[in-house]
Amino acid sequence: MKKKQVRISVLVSGNGSNLQVLIDAIENGIVPNAKIVQVISSNASAYAVERAQNHDIPVNIITKHDYADIRDRMDAILEMLQLENTDLVVLAGYLSILPQKVIKAYENRIINIHPALLPKYGGKECYGMKVHERIIEAGETESGATIHYVDEGIDTGKIIVQGVVPVRPSDTAELLKERVLKKEHELLPIAVNQVIKEQML
Ligand code: GAR
Repeated sequence: MKKKQVRISVLVSGNGSNLQVLIDAIENGIVPNAKIVQVISSNASAYAVERAQNHDIPVNIITKHDYADIRDRMDAILEMLQLENTDLVVLAGYLSILPQKVIKAYENRIINIHPALLPKYGGKECYGMKVHERIIEAGETESGATIHYVDEGIDTGKIIVQGVVPVRPSDTAELLKERVLKKEHELLPIAVNQVIKEQML
């Protein structure tokens, strides 16, 4: 019997290099039986939007500007996820906090990529470049990437996979970001395959 296709919605805010990795992994059969059914972006001018369009993936833009009230934003996101019969939500550089209602509706079916070794360097003020700047300031000798389930806390959900990278004395935040990103790209297809299996999607 043919396996059902897992319908993935990817939420983005910026460059979308992780989105690209997932697009490629699906196209190359590394993540089999899956399809990105939509990309939801919190930023209309994100390069991730162009990446999705280049692969004919439908894009929905939900910005704080258009939906100033969090409840409206929450309903719009939830509606889009449900309209597309989403099985799995991937936060790939999505820099807004996902409303609780969405998290509840997709329990154990939302995963997030974080650019550090959680539980270190997570939480409300720790995202994007800020993470790498703080790690360098603190004189850490290693960092890495974490992919975890999203629960109702910020960066507190169960860890799916983690990978370590060195922090070199000569590193700038930019250099460290690039090294960590490479690790994220390695881990993302592994994490998606693992979640599909674990949650029997
Ligand atoms: C990635 O480094 C990801 O870990 C980070 O944003 C970057 C997005 O890159 N996410 C967070 O900080 C979430 N807390 P990308 O747009 O090129 O995939």
